[in-house]
Amino acid sequence: MFTKQNSLGIFGMDAYTVTVEADVSEGHFAFNIVGLPDAAVRESGDRVLSALRNNFFTLPGGRTTVNLAPADRKKEGTLYDVPILIAILVSTGQLAGDFSDMAFIGELSLDGALRPINALLPMAIEARQSGIKHLFVPAENAAEGAVVQGINVYPVENILQLVRALRGEIQIPPAVYTPVADTDSISHLDFSEVKGQFLAKKALEVAAAGGHNVLLIGPPGSGKSMLAKRFPTILPELTEKESIEATKIHSIAGVLAKKSPLITKRPFRSPHHTVSSAAMSGGGAIPKPGEISLAHNGVLFLDELPEFKREVMEALRAPLEDGNVTVSRVLGSFTYPCSFTLIGAMNPCPCGFYGHPTKNCTCSPSAVSKYLGKISGPMLDRLDIHVEVPPVKYDELKDDAGTAESSAEIKARVDKARQIQNERYKDENISCNARLTPKLLKKYCVLSDEAEQLLSAAFKNMGLSGRAYDRILKVSRTLADLEAKEKIESNHIAQAIQFRSLDRKYWAK
Ligand SMILES: Nc1ncnc2c1ncn2[C@@H]1O[C@H](COP(=O)(O)OP(=O)(O)O)[C@@H](O)[C@H]1O
Ligand SMILES: [Mg+2]
Repeated sequence: MFTKQNSLGIFGMDAYTVTVEADVSEGHFAFNIVGLPDAAVRESGDRVLSALRNNFFTLPGGRTTVNLAPADRKKEGTLYDVPILIAILVSTGQLAGDFSDMAFIGELSLDGALRPINALLPMAIEARQSGIKHLFVPAENAAEGAVVQGINVYPVENILQLVRALRGEIQIPPAVYTPVADTDSISHLDFSEVKGQFLAKKALEVAAAGGHNVLLIGPPGSGKSMLAKRFPTILPELTEKESIEATKIHSIAGVLAKKSPLITKRPFRSPHHTVSSAAMSGGGAIPKPGEISLAHNGVLFLDELPEFKREVMEALRAPLEDGNVTVSRVLGSFTYPCSFTLIGAMNPCPCGFYGHPTKNCTCSPSAVSKYLGKISGPMLDRLDIHVEVPPVKYDELKDDAGTAESSAEIKARVDKARQIQNERYKDENISCNARLTPKLLKKYCVLSDEAEQLLSAAFKNMGLSGRAYDRILKVSRTLADLEAKEKIESNHIAQAIQFRSLDRKYWAK
């Protein structure tokens, strides 16, 4: 008998519906899966037959053909075990009913227990869009699926439970989404804990307000990591759309926290400098979104920036501009979004004390320039703001008067500046100042006469590179927005130039 059941698949970021057809006919025993299955799907047959046997169902006797439609799309992974099993039970008359508004996803272990799968969230969204009312998933994945409204997502422990539910003998209560309180390590951090470092804090405020990438340079122990970890606490809240986008990527990568399936805080990723290209940008034998995509709508913190492999750093350049990354592989190429704020931190030289006010640097000049040279010009250019993080003076550390501003106070200014940009760019295809194109720069960065003069004098006298020009304009736009000024004034230009001056201190040839 021929039967078909609904399931889903994932290709890159996109989920699609899959129809699992089974046909059991007379003849010698045979079991075939067609419809572009990969190795994991082909092995499905063995898992399904074992699960049937171990749960005392009758095995299909004759020729069984399973087709996964659409047959022109390559099917991957183990998630079709459950729909194949249900299709076989119906084909062999062991289960009856109309399951046309239901879909099934899940891997089986040989004893018939359901094992969790990746990428449930995008598949649950697709199921709802294609009119599925009831989605049966591995129990461990159910909380993730429950994030999607308008579809019932049922947590299934094993196939006996599922079959009994489909026969109407028992009811499985659908999973309910319950937001959980923050318990992550970032949420309790606050800028008020960082003493001194006013310039670095201002730089991070500007970065948060305008979406700019930042480079922090300073000796070991000056508080670079401390500052970077607090950066997410001053970023605007995630919108619902951003939250779903980020969650989809983490779902596909299989790294969602079980207890808090919906990402509601901006991601903060800090891969170690030994990270491989595939782990950073995405890809690998079993392709997954990389760190840059996991940082989508959040922060990518690269500590000890010069220590990253050259190819890893160079591969960041295009995604930084485009906000998405294309991962090529045998099946075709996938594009994953990766719009994030990059914070780089580095020592100024191998020993860390080059330019230090009191300690001596033990590095040779060539070692220093080789170290700095690991950050290429094009990479430096993508970091709009460069700021020095000098060692904190003893007096500042000792002073515990609690006068430092809290994250909430800084965030309030950031939010205001973001609102101004949202309003200004509502008809443009950008969201913040960092994304201004040369054409839009002309339109929106109007300088006062004095600011104009200062900028042109700075270019003549300080030998700023042409490349620095756009960056200075963008950052000064943000500085003006933080003060709710429509016109960019000379103090904004002066500060923006200061945020580029390390270029000349460390990288001037
Ligand atoms: N400005 C500061 N205010 C308070 N504590 C600081 C400050 N700078 C450094 N520290 C202390 O020094 C430690 C090391 O700082 P860290 O951020 O790891 O430095 P870096 O990353 O620059 O090497 C911090 O955990 C903190 O205890
Ligand atoms: Mg550090």
